[in-house]
Amino acid sequence: MKRAATARARANIALAKYWGKRDDALNLPAVPSVSITLDPLVTETRVVFDDALESDTFELDGAPAQAGELARVVRLLDEVRSLAGIGARASVSSVNHFPTAAGLASSASGFAALAGAASAAAGLDASAGELSARARRASASAARSIYGGFAELPVGDSDGLAARPIAPADHWDLRVVVAVTAEGRKPVGSRSAMTVSRETSVYWDAWVAAAPSLTLQIREALLARDMARLVPLVEQSFFAMHAVAMSASPSILYWQPASVAALATVRRLRDEGVLVCPTMDAGPHVKAICLSADVERVERALAETEGVLRTVVAQPGPGIEIEVEPS
Ligand code: DP6
Repeated sequence: MKRAATARARANIALAKYWGKRDDALNLPAVPSVSITLDPLVTETRVVFDDALESDTFELDGAPAQAGELARVVRLLDEVRSLAGIGARASVSSVNHFPTAAGLASSASGFAALAGAASAAAGLDASAGELSARARRASASAARSIYGGFAELPVGDSDGLAARPIAPADHWDLRVVVAVTAEGRKPVGSRSAMTVSRETSVYWDAWVAAAPSLTLQIREALLARDMARLVPLVEQSFFAMHAVAMSASPSILYWQPASVAALATVRRLRDEGVLVCPTMDAGPHVKAICLSADVERVERALAETEGVLRTVVAQPGPGIEIEVEPS
């Protein structure tokens, strides 16, 4: 047997942040989250199940992946094999079609694309919800990348927990300007940082208690296309997430001097009347969310900020696209 499928999925940026797990083994988030799926930040993944293969292989951007990355891929492939009742090993090749080092993690788009391509290649007729749950078990933010436009990942105790769509990409013409502030990989991976945050931050309980209402308000502001309401809420979610990380022991600080300079630029633009808000993930880059009418001004101001290496502009994009190759 030899069966192949290819899937394309996009990165996403959380407006209401996921940070921390209620169950490590099942990879269940401790808080709900809301995100925008982003064009043109696409990962394309091809999976071939082939009886002739002796073991699973995983190639990322043309090079063999590290052992830890391969192990996470194999876990997802094992789940698919067991559901489909097949034993064939797979070769997985994944390419990030991101503008050069866009400062946005590729794990969300990567695991979403892998869940889609592996399921289709194995002959599973999976619903979007099933694909989202499969992606979530591998990396929770990936659950949201199955859907285009705006999506949410609620909290829950079930192994089948999945993200769900809130609104399509054309619901709101927002832009995300990424201010790239450093090259290379992040210092502390989000997975271990989340564990340290839960186990040691004095703000952990407050974060988990406050997140549901904050997320609900962000969802409402999004549905109402109310930028003036959205801006302070998004800012609060990201500052709270980073306050939890910073107050952990050992402390996790993702910010660099250029991150703070970019945050100050966004604040200045706001003082000048532009509706724009910053957010940051588990890394030093600042992402500014604004209306399309303001994107040139926001991009110029960030590009001129000291320490900002370059800017990348993204916008709401479509959900996962899957193609099965004729066998
Ligand atoms: C900071 O999805 O990478 O980007 O479930 O452990 O794989 P795992 O974590 P991951 O966490 C991303 C967290 C974040 C915020 C967000 O995307 O909501």
